[in-house]
Amino acid sequence: MSQEGEKMGELKKGLEGVEVLETKISSIDGENGILKYRGTDINDLVEYSFEAVTHLLLYEKLPNESELAAFSDQLRGSRKIDQDILDVLTTCDFNIQAMDALRTAVSYMSHCDPDLGDSSLESNLRKATGLIAKFPTVVAAFHRVRDDLDVIEPDASMSHGENFLYMLKGKKPGELEAEIVDKDFVLSAEHELNASTFSARVTASTLADIHSTVISGLSTLKGPLHAGARMCVMEMLDDISSPENAEDHVLNLISKKEKVMGFGHRVYKTHDPRDRIYKKLAKRLADHGDPKWFEIAEIIEATVQRELVEKREKPIYPNLDFYSAVTYKYIEIPETLATAMFAIGRVSGWIAHVLEQYADNRLIRPRAKTS
Ligand SMILES: CC(C)(COP(=O)(O)OP(=O)(O)OC[C@H]1O[C@@H](n2cnc3c(N)ncnc32)[C@H](O)[C@@H]1OP(=O)(O)O)[C@@H](O)C(=O)NCCC(=O)NCCS
Repeated sequence: MSQEGEKMGELKKGLEGVEVLETKISSIDGENGILKYRGTDINDLVEYSFEAVTHLLLYEKLPNESELAAFSDQLRGSRKIDQDILDVLTTCDFNIQAMDALRTAVSYMSHCDPDLGDSSLESNLRKATGLIAKFPTVVAAFHRVRDDLDVIEPDASMSHGENFLYMLKGKKPGELEAEIVDKDFVLSAEHELNASTFSARVTASTLADIHSTVISGLSTLKGPLHAGARMCVMEMLDDISSPENAEDHVLNLISKKEKVMGFGHRVYKTHDPRDRIYKKLAKRLADHGDPKWFEIAEIIEATVQRELVEKREKPIYPNLDFYSAVTYKYIEIPETLATAMFAIGRVSGWIAHVLEQYADNRLIRPRAKTS
């Protein structure tokens, strides 16, 4: 081995456990199942609106009343998308997921941005507000164009979650559904150096523009080992379709050594705190509707717990994609929108990290061991 090779040290496949940068944006205690955004526990943050939590991520503090009003005004005033973007959405292949349409739209938005070449903090914050505000509009518009329905204009009197459901379904949602979707965006917003955030930061470290960093995040988020798992869980719930089939379905997956989607995590070796919150939200929805989806989910969870955690001693607990998929079944979110909905929340976290990266940048360029 060369001298340089010796200095490089042990190869960590998948970068497991490797710390590559410092962040103030969030922290995870994987042994004890604790997640904090900027020092505040996720169990407390879930009681705040998505707009307030986005302010926390971008501006390092939970807003007071006037700060929240000003920031909400900015976000709500930036929700509308141009006709050009709508035209692009109508040319997309309608068999693609909303996630692919979102990636295409962000790429097109960058062409239309008059400040594309301006990477000052002021310009980046303006672009950030626009991107965060427009994500729900793009996803809802793509869904409606695909289904040959009229596109619904955003309503600035509604919260981020309520307005998304309104634009998606064409009618004002119930209070519980609106509250739960807003919380969904809060719970999905940030998670330290997950794969898509890392990807966005790598792109930022080359000093590429903010739209490019968000496209990197979107591309990485899509895979089934990341947010794509949420759609896979919805498909699994459909396949199972009745509580009587749930246990056999899981036993069959385990006997074939296949993964149970929505379970396992690189960092958490106990329950993911977001999963425990989603479970309570799913229960609230189940109490107001058909309990079937929640019952199926509880049987899946109990079977994985018995077969993998207790018998095989593997720390395979539900992650945030499991019970979030159950809430989507109750709210009647189409499966092809599930990953894009995760992105509506996560874009705030990506942008907070990208701004942190720009503020203290060093090119991220690791090494490979030549075999
Ligand atoms: C999230 C995930 C990619 C983490 O991966 P990782 O840290 O690289 O862990 P590995 O895939 O190497 O899994 C470690 C062991 O646990 C098992 N395992 C991990 N997740 C599992 C799951 N969901 N179902 C069954 N077994 C699982 C693996 O088979 C492996 O077993 P082995 O040691 O006997 O080979 C993985 O748990 C997974 O694929 N989960 C399903 C997809 C998902 O829900 N993704 C969303 C993440 S938020």
